Amino acid sequence: MKVPLLDLKPQYRALKAELDAALLRVSESQYFILGPEVKALEEAVARYSGCKFGIGISSGTDALLIALMALDIGAGDEVITSPYTFFATAGTIARVGARPVFVDIEPRTFNIEPQAIEDFLASCERRGDAVINPATGGRVRAIMPVHLYGQVADMTRIMDIASRYRLRVIEDAAQAIGSADAQGRRAGSIGDVGCLSFFPTKNLGAFGDAGMCVTNDAVLAAKLFKLRVHGMEPKYYHELVGGNFRIDEIQAAVLNVKLPHLDSWSAARQRNASFYDAAFARAGLAGLVTPAPAPGDSRHIYNQYCIRSSRREELRVHLSGAGVGVEIYYPLPLHMQQCFAYLGHEPGDFRESLRASKESLALPIYPELEQSQLQYVVDTIAALLKK
Ligand SMILES: Cc1ncc(COP(=O)(O)O)c(C=O)c1O
Repeated sequence: MKVPLLDLKPQYRALKAELDAALLRVSESQYFILGPEVKALEEAVARYSGCKFGIGISSGTDALLIALMALDIGAGDEVITSPYTFFATAGTIARVGARPVFVDIEPRTFNIEPQAIEDFLASCERRGDAVINPATGGRVRAIMPVHLYGQVADMTRIMDIASRYRLRVIEDAAQAIGSADAQGRRAGSIGDVGCLSFFPTKNLGAFGDAGMCVTNDAVLAAKLFKLRVHGMEPKYYHELVGGNFRIDEIQAAVLNVKLPHLDSWSAARQRNASFYDAAFARAGLAGLVTPAPAPGDSRHIYNQYCIRSSRREELRVHLSGAGVGVEIYYPLPLHMQQCFAYLGHEPGDFRESLRASKESLALPIYPELEQSQLQYVVDTIAALLKK
């Protein structure tokens, strides 16, 4: 049996008539950049995310970058984040000239550990409103939590810490549109600004690159709108140095068709995750693999379903050989990446991030999977681990 990690074709087939009509509409309008489709999408995604404003951006990476720019984070500044995430999280911090400050993750959720943020900040010096990292002399300006795999980080504690230290919070919600914490707050709506990605593999995927910033802060929203078009307002007058961070009409048209289906897709992913949880337990694999955490009261949208195993490499080869698509997110934590060697970290500085990078394995979880396919994945894992 073949169980791909992700197959976008069934989703396309189901919506083909609507999607093709939307693409044709854009072709016929010959309106390609920042037009009516983008405006409609911004309003719809903002509403969906529990925010007042949505600013359509060229990608999730650019959404992070422009959020940092809008908060005037740059040289001499530091931003606290997780080393166990996709590169863009810390890459954008470095690109604005700031220094990423890594703190470890909590093993249960793979998300940033609030106590580790607290411990780092306790080692800093307060000078008036400024928080200074004594090791570097840099000013700590913000926290960038990542809602990894579609599960919201512990935002109650993170927001409490941020308010005590007067730090800004940029949520990397690239993998997490529609997820919510136990209080029902949607990913991206809790910090100063949330950054979404519509990369095709995300729960809401475009036909190319696209992203969005969401916020409830009108001043910040106005700045983001301006920075998106080279800081220009009015035309050819530049108060700020921004960039070309525009999203195009074709992507927005596709996303406008897909957004009304997002809840049903995320619900199907949740059903698949529950199926895996129960099937692993039935197979007596509890403890051998650690399934992704149960969502409890929060809303996990399962952009990925990752198990952990100390025999991950064997498992990866075995599953691939049996026709099951798997992926390792992420094989090298960011503190060990060559481009961040200047930060001077040792592998064991963030033990849980290092362990996650050695143990985690993403299984197929996309909405259209059949139960027989899910069961096959579990049986294939059991065949190896229970030998
Ligand atoms: C956690 C995280 N942050 C940022 C990004 C960047 O998004 P994009 O690929 O749309 O630039 C991604 C997506 O790949 C991601 O998973």
